[in-house]
Amino acid sequence: EKGGFESFMDKEIHDQPQAVGDTLLGRTDVDGRLILDDLKIDEAVLRSVDKIVVIACGTAAYAGHVAKYAIEHWCRIPVEVELAHEFRYRDPVVNEKTLVVAITQSGETMDTLMAVRHAREQGAKVISIVNTNGSTIPRESDAVLYTHAGPEIAVASTKAFLSQITAAYVLGLYLAQLRGNKFPDEIALLMDELRDMPRKIQTVIERGEYVRSTARSMKDASSVLFLGRHVGFPVAMEGALKLKELAYIHAEGFAAGELKHGPIALIDEGQPVFVVVPSPRGRDSLHSKVVSNIQEIRARGARTLVIAEDGDDSVKAFADEIFWIPQVPTLMQPLLATVPLQIFAMALATAKGLDVDQPRNLAKSVTVE
Ligand code: F6R
Repeated sequence: EKGGFESFMDKEIHDQPQAVGDTLLGRTDVDGRLILDDLKIDEAVLRSVDKIVVIACGTAAYAGHVAKYAIEHWCRIPVEVELAHEFRYRDPVVNEKTLVVAITQSGETMDTLMAVRHAREQGAKVISIVNTNGSTIPRESDAVLYTHAGPEIAVASTKAFLSQITAAYVLGLYLAQLRGNKFPDEIALLMDELRDMPRKIQTVIERGEYVRSTARSMKDASSVLFLGRHVGFPVAMEGALKLKELAYIHAEGFAAGELKHGPIALIDEGQPVFVVVPSPRGRDSLHSKVVSNIQEIRARGARTLVIAEDGDDSVKAFADEIFWIPQVPTLMQPLLATVPLQIFAMALATAKGLDVDQPRNLAKSVTVE
């Protein structure tokens, strides 16, 4: 039941700290080494993998995009992310050295199932990251990593997304451990960061009222854009998808670096644009690049809605609204930055009088191709 919340979606947004915590339960042995006891693939096979292909649809595919950044960084294995239905009907290069990771909340998505079958026919091993116990895709996979997020009732995916990212990160760290890409203490540190995320997600949820009131004031918007770089890019895509499906508003997510290659032409007076700002403490010049992107769109009249880390004063001068999130390393940021975007889409849809749990034309699990 809704447990006193306005909608299942609202409840499931609030479930997220618990969902991420549950995804992490029982993943280390007494010596602190990562174990995935539901992983039934020979370790030697996993050591010889030379490519990972993530297949999924919709929100689950965005979780895969986030995971790509982390897994490549930690494991130095090339990771491709592909929509399951596109993967299935071309001629993908997949063989015994390919590890396919299928991500699905329902475990029943027909597009993803067909892609899993196709991959296994080519000799690839398939690990599925699944929320629903006993569903079809785990039965047809070589191994399963359950997310344990609990049942997700609202059609729009929320807690499943955060737990998919978490599970994919655990898998990435497991591979890094197995293949010797990281020292045990580095892995332990990253696991500690993950274990600290539920508390920080809770903080973001507690700050939700400001997001809600901003959303209510924007219920007549006809288009909203979302920008991000690095892991913030799939977060932007996810924010746009949530708004389309719940509020029926045209929305698009872009890689911020792509702006000047076309999308900046869309910016005119009052155009709302969300920008996900990476940690200012991160490496490279990721942060300053995004801050200049905010300046560029602001100068052209955009209304900027900025998601930034606590203490990041550099965005203040260019932001119309700021949604603050706790400080975390960039790779962990999607687990926080997604939450205001979920709340925004839900609150805006609610302000328009729409049914957030059951948007038009959509089904919770898509069992036809
Ligand atoms: C969006 C949403 C969908 C699903 C997609 C895959 O909010 O829920 O995009 O993510 O249909 O579904 P699963 O994860 O069940 O395979």
